[in-house]
Order: sequence, then structure tokens, then C-alpha cells
Amino acid sequence: MAVYDAIGTTYAGTRRPDARIAARIEAALGDAASVVNVGAGTGSYETARTVLAVEPSPVMIAQRPDGSAPAVRAVAERIPVVDGAADAVMALLTVHHWSDLAAGVAELRRVARRRVVILTWDQAVFRRFWLVEEYLPEAAAFDDTRAVPVERLAAMLGGARVEPVPVPHDCTDGFGAAFWRRPAAYLDPVVRAGISMLAQPGEELLRPGLARLAADLASGRWRDRHRDLATHDEFDAGYRLVIDERETAS
Ligand SMILES: C[S@@+](CC[C@H](N)C(=O)[O-])C[C@H]1O[C@@H](n2cnc3c(N)ncnc32)[C@H](O)[C@@H]1O
Repeated sequence: MAVYDAIGTTYAGTRRPDARIAARIEAALGDAASVVNVGAGTGSYETARTVLAVEPSPVMIAQRPDGSAPAVRAVAERIPVVDGAADAVMALLTVHHWSDLAAGVAELRRVARRRVVILTWDQAVFRRFWLVEEYLPEAAAFDDTRAVPVERLAAMLGGARVEPVPVPHDCTDGFGAAFWRRPAAYLDPVVRAGISMLAQPGEELLRPGLARLAADLASGRWRDRHRDLATHDEFDAGYRLVIDERETAS
């Protein structure tokens, strides 16, 4: 069973695309007229130019809004379309789930005529995020096993451009670091269910750290330690766009 068949049931509720991140992805896609979205999930960040969504989990496909691009149940490692099927291929917060990264990246390059856009994260930067550094090192250790080094990804794409994607303080897409200024959100099991590094290791493992976070929020200790965060509107938790610009329009 695909992982997201088990952990993805509430995804559409907590993982609503954020307009500011959407603007960065749009800019990265540039003038591509057609886009294939690989590891598409519920369809976050898809625009009208998306011609196909590729997604292995039927639970995720079922949460795609009416009117979304057609979705095919398939994996990145074997995308069921012809070579050069779209101007651009995007793969957002998904490469760390793939069983064969090299095969998946080769497929993205085969399908994209001009541009590959990947959203991922730099684990070395992410590890400094207060949630995992101070409370849930187990979640960071879990991510250590699957995080794809950004430089490796860029090299696999033949020397791609890397752009930081800062997280707004009120980010609507509830991924791992989305709640950096709203710590109580991490105590909500529905929020955690939409974040694979918190959903996959299991509640048992994370319980002591979550209990410490709850206690520090109640006592004011968290606020005292992280007073400076209130002065920032966005935060670099390590999210990165990796953009392979292969050809310009002729
Ligand atoms: C964190 S979700 C991201 C979904 C969407 N791209 C987004 O940004 O909201 C990761 C997605 O990757 C999918 N996935 C897992 N393994 C995959 C594979 N081998 N090929 C393609 N997608 C995969 C999961 O089913 C899940 O929908």
C-alpha cells in the first residue's frame, strides 16, 4: 500500500497551497505552456496549464478538487507518457518518497521538453529548526534517512539552479516547518497527520517531545526562548526549488 493511502486521509484539509509559495513555483515554471505534476498528491500548486498529474496513492487522487487535471495512478520511476510530453515537469515535496531517485529524476528529464522544477529541502538547514532541534530529534533522524541532498539533486539534473523558499509566518500549506511561529499547531494530531516526518515515525516515538513542547508552551518557556521569532515574517527552514532549465523557447 502506498504510504499516503495510510497517512494522507486529511491532507486536503491541512495542506492548502500557499499563495506566496505558489508564486515562486509559477515563476520557476516560467512560460511553460504544459506541465506534468509528478507526485501530485491532492493537486496543490497545479495551475490550468497542468495537463497530467502522476500520483501512486488513490487516497490522494480522491482528494483532488473537481475540475483538476486528469490524474494517472503511477510512480515517478515509470511515468506513462511519451518522451517530451510537456514543456515542464514539476515534483513538489515528493522526491524523498521515491524508491529509486535516479530512475525518477531520469524520468522527469525524459518527459520535460524544457524545464524540471523540484521543491525539496536541505536537511542540514532544516535540522536547525527549533521543533526538531529541541523537541523532536526523532523526526529529524527519520528525515535523515530519506532527505535528498540538494547538491546531489542539482548534479543529477546536470547542474540545476537552486532557489530558497522561505516559509511565511502564516503559511497555509501545513508542511513540516509551516508552523514555525505557531507552535501549538504541532500538538494537533490532524496537523501532524499531514506532515510525513511526524506521521510516519509513529505517535509513541514522538510523545515525550510533544509533551515537553506542551509543557513549555503552558509555562511560557517556549515563548521566552523564541521571542525573536515574533519579529520575523518569514523563515528559512531549508526549503529549496531546484530548477533545471534545459532549453529556451524557440
Ligand atoms: C508530501 S506529498 C506532496 C504532494 C504534492 N506534490 C504537494 O505538494 O502537496 C508526497 C506525494 O508523493 C507521492 N509519492 C510517493 N511515492 C511516489 C513515487 N514513487 N512517485 C511519485 N509520487 C510518489 C505520495 O503519494 C504523495 O502524494
